[in-house]
Amino acid sequence: MIVCHCQNITDHDINTAVNWMRASDDKTIITPGKVYRALGKAADCGGCMPLFLSTMRGNENLEVPMHLRNLKPAATQETHHERRQESH
Ligand code: FES
Repeated sequence: MIVCHCQNITDHDINTAVNWMRASDDKTIITPGKVYRALGKAADCGGCMPLFLSTMRGNENLEVPMHLRNLKPAATQETHHERRQESH
């Protein structure tokens, strides 16, 4: 099934690219932009993004590796402001 009509990308192309990226690097975070680049193409109109993302999410190799999840500190822990002095 063609997912991106501008670049003629099929669901098979997307799944192949996702599988290849995961096999190449188990820590990588796979984005639509990386999939386009892996296929040697670039998004044009963006109209395919909902279906493009849905196709990516259907691939079991897309998941963010478990050890990279929850790396952002909780909002309550972010009270320190860099470059801002305490006296202001
Ligand atoms: S349909 Fe995919 S960029 Fe236009």
